[in-house]
Amino acid sequence: MKIVMLGAPGAGKGTQAKMIAEKYGIPHVSTGDIFRANIKNGTELGKEAKQYMDQGKLVPDELTVKILLDRVAQDDCKNGYVLDGFPRTIPQANVLDEALTKLGDKIDYAVNVDVPDENIINRMGGRRACVACGATYHVVYNAPKTEGICDVCGKELIIRDDDQPETVKNRLNVYHEQTQPLIDFYEEKGVLKSVDGTVDMKDVFAAIVEILGE
Ligand code: AP5
Ligand code: MG
Repeated sequence: MKIVMLGAPGAGKGTQAKMIAEKYGIPHVSTGDIFRANIKNGTELGKEAKQYMDQGKLVPDELTVKILLDRVAQDDCKNGYVLDGFPRTIPQANVLDEALTKLGDKIDYAVNVDVPDENIINRMGGRRACVACGATYHVVYNAPKTEGICDVCGKELIIRDDDQPETVKNRLNVYHEQTQPLIDFYEEKGVLKSVDGTVDMKDVFAAIVEILGE
C-alpha cells in the first residue's frame, strides 16, 4: 500500500503517518525528518536544507526529489510506504507519478488531514519532536511520559527551529500557494480521501483506518 499524507504544517501528518506505519507494517518516510537528521549530523545536505527550513521556505525540488526517490528505492519500501511531507509541489508530484508509472505502480491513497489555519499556530507552540526516531509529542494533547524525553527511544526531545510563530505563518503561506493544489491533483486521480484533523488524534486515526481498511 502506497500512501501520501497531505495537510498543512501541524495538521498531524507525522502523528498519523507514524500510526499508519505501525499498523500496516510499512515504513514512514518523512522528507522533513530526513532533512532534520542531516542538520543534526552536520552534513552538506543538512547545511543547505537548513537555510530554507529556518525561513519556512521549501527546500528546492531538485534536492528533495533525489532524496525521496533514493529512499523509496530501498528494500524496505518494496511493499509500500507512507509519505509524509512529500510531494509538496506539483512538480514533485509529477516526478513521483512518473517514477511509479515506470514501475507499473501508483499511489493508492492520498489522505488529506484537514485542519484550519486558526488551530495550527496553537498546536505548534506545544510541539516537541524526537530527532532520533521522528516521534512527535505535544505538551498538552500528547505529552511524553517523562518531560523532554522520547517514550519510544529515550532520546532528548527538541523544539523545532521552524516552530517560531513568524516562521509558522510563512510555512502556512507556502502551504496554501504551493502544496494545497495537490488536493486537486490527487482528487483528479481518484485517490483523495479527506479526514477531519481537528478531533482527537485517536479519532483521526480511526477515520483513516476506516478508509484504508483493517
Ligand atoms: P515537515 O517536517 O514536513 O513539516 P510540515 O509539513 O510543516 O509539517 P509538520 O511536521 O510541521 O506538521 P505535521 O503535519 O507533521 O504535524 P504533527 O504530527 O507534528 O517539513 C519541514 C520543512 O522541511 C519544510 O518547511 C521545508 O522547508 C522542508 N521540506 C520537507 N519536505 C519537503 C519537500 N517535499 N519539499 C521541499 N521542502 C521540504 O503535529 C503537530 C502538533 O500537533 C504536534 O505537537 C502533535 O502532537 C499535535 N497534534 C497532532 N494531531 C493532533 C490532534 N488531532 N489534536 C491535537 N493535537 C494534535
Ligand atoms: Mg511532520
